[in-house]
Amino acid sequence: MFIERYNANILTDFLFYLHMTLSESIRLQYLNTIGVTVWQSRFTSEFVVPQVEHIEPEPVILAEDSITDSWGKLHSDVIQCSLCSLCTTRTQTVFGEGDLNAKWLFVGEAPGQNEDEQGKPFVGDAGQLLTEILRAMQLTREEVFITNILKCRPPQNRDPHVDEIKHCLDFLHRQMTLIQPKIIIAVGRIAAQTLLNTHEKIGKLRGSIHYFENIPLIAIYHPAYLLRSLTEKRKVWHDLQFALKTFKSLENE
Ligand code: URA
Repeated sequence: MFIERYNANILTDFLFYLHMTLSESIRLQYLNTIGVTVWQSRFTSEFVVPQVEHIEPEPVILAEDSITDSWGKLHSDVIQCSLCSLCTTRTQTVFGEGDLNAKWLFVGEAPGQNEDEQGKPFVGDAGQLLTEILRAMQLTREEVFITNILKCRPPQNRDPHVDEIKHCLDFLHRQMTLIQPKIIIAVGRIAAQTLLNTHEKIGKLRGSIHYFENIPLIAIYHPAYLLRSLTEKRKVWHDLQFALKTFKSLENE
């Protein structure tokens, strides 16, 4: 009973948090789907969205003089990669961005259309939700590193093919070796299954501590899934709590 009320309070806080911070269109979509009618004052012509300070993440600076040779070499290897056919359909590669010494490494599946156009990971609707998820964890995009299993967009956002993953995984390994993260968050099914070399469902993989090359790894639902399946929101909130608890226990070791 107490636990249920406690969870309900957390959920309410989380919903309020989303309510206050998501973009108007996602927020309205979200509220509409869970059956909440947005109240609008008769005395103002427009519903005023609370302004939340939004800091654009700085792109990773990869100038030769400001970073180690390895980052420069890795970045240019990614940009020039033609190991699979995605190099013929991509607009540009999406290397990843954030703190090059981040404690948290977030790994998604592959760039989508927005990411392919902008050359940055998680910048579409799912990316916006990931940013909000980070904020709910009291993290910013600048202090974590965000990247994907694939550095190029698969056409029509199809699932990555095995040979594409095989070629691209080496880049992620090299990123991990340079970053030395304390914890890896596998964002979504494909990232989790790839890094854990399993076909287990994401529903089974979440909620446990796994390891990728001795680094603790937590699997969470993909924010795109959350946008499609808003009834799963409670599970996502639990995923975040679990990730934070795991990280804290690592800090205390
Ligand atoms: N989905 C992903 O997995 N990665 C991105 O960068 C964007 C959407």
